[in-house]
Amino acid sequence: MSFDVVIRSVRLAPTGDAAAQLVDVAVTGPTIAAIRPAGTLDSAGAVELPGDGRLCSIPFVDPHVHLDAVLTVGEPHHNESGTLIEGIQTWAERKQTLTHEDVKRRALEAILWEVAQGTGLIRSHVDVCDPSLVALRALLELRQEVADLVELRLIAFPQDGILSFPDGEALMREAMRLGCDLIGGIPHYEWTREDGIAEVQFLFDLARETGAGIDLHCDETDDEQSRFLEHVAARTMRDGMQGRVVAGHTTAMGSYNDAYSFKLLQILRRAGVTIVANPLDNIVLQGRFDSYPKRRGMTRVKELDRLGINVVCGHDSIMDPWYPLGRGSMLDALSMLVHVAQMTGRSELFSAFAMITGNAARASGTATELREGGPADLVVLDCEDEAEAIRLRPPCRWVLRQGRLVAETPSGASVVHRGDGRTVPVTFTKPRGGPTG
Ligand code: FE2
Repeated sequence: MSFDVVIRSVRLAPTGDAAAQLVDVAVTGPTIAAIRPAGTLDSAGAVELPGDGRLCSIPFVDPHVHLDAVLTVGEPHHNESGTLIEGIQTWAERKQTLTHEDVKRRALEAILWEVAQGTGLIRSHVDVCDPSLVALRALLELRQEVADLVELRLIAFPQDGILSFPDGEALMREAMRLGCDLIGGIPHYEWTREDGIAEVQFLFDLARETGAGIDLHCDETDDEQSRFLEHVAARTMRDGMQGRVVAGHTTAMGSYNDAYSFKLLQILRRAGVTIVANPLDNIVLQGRFDSYPKRRGMTRVKELDRLGINVVCGHDSIMDPWYPLGRGSMLDALSMLVHVAQMTGRSELFSAFAMITGNAARASGTATELREGGPADLVVLDCEDEAEAIRLRPPCRWVLRQGRLVAETPSGASVVHRGDGRTVPVTFTKPRGGPTG
């Protein structure tokens, strides 16, 4: 049997922190044709990529980003307070100057950053509180144009509310008619609690009408009275939408009392709602009304994960009015998550890796693992296992999409020059050998 590409000697994620067997992965067309013990596949006629013991995984998923706002930092001015409200005000100003080409140019640049760093599926919210829907039309066009690089799914996101924004319901319907993949929402931002509940009901009614899934921003606040997620879970169960509803941020959960959280987590599990934590943004945006002690402002990642609720990790912002930093690296986002959620236990690091791979793929209905006969979508990282991936945040040596090499980064090599003339390589890994050396 002949193959197009053979990747030699890699460890497949999830490794389960076991001494993972080294395997060769053979690709024919857009499919993984074979996975066999290292050194046993005939690579005659194939492009051979030397894995050299590196970690090989399904591509990363960015389940939550705002591509219409990326790379607008400083326009028209910087968010000097760093707060959510100044971010929203700054975006309201910048939004006035959006053009079709402006949105496409910035979003494409950010997509290239993400693809180069191993992301194969991006779910982007798009602000539809704009009568002309400029950003949405631009991103719908871009979705086609980048299909060779990444699967882009678009979420109709009512940044300024649905009931609280003129013609909000009509704009949401129009966004879905134009081709959005998913229904977004922001119930905690409506003017009243009752309006927030009405918004949730509208989202599910729209899901019934259109057949689309839901991916809403929910309870992104430190206000422990913000409790729209229970309405989302209840409607999910009543409408039989288990597995098709995603709730982002849910930071208020970090402020709920334990008795209420216990109840909420039970119904979330029954409803099969996926929770997206966005630790890069939320660690800087939340806790802003606190003096000390200051809350971390993140949802209950560890507790949700332990209960078997599907938890994923998003990048959220890349250099925009809310978050001036970021480089489109899902490993950066995950590194922040394990710090804020205190998931640095050995097994927790391995669980966390699934939050940008298998868990996130499950929420999107795409392949959750590499297997023979599955899609040849994969990344090879410059590290040995998932814990090292989070620690080093290494370059992606190769990124394959549908069997085609879509990105590569040469291995970096640092050296230190000693005073005696020796040059010492630095690998950022533990020296081999234990205490006895
Ligand atoms: Fe967001």
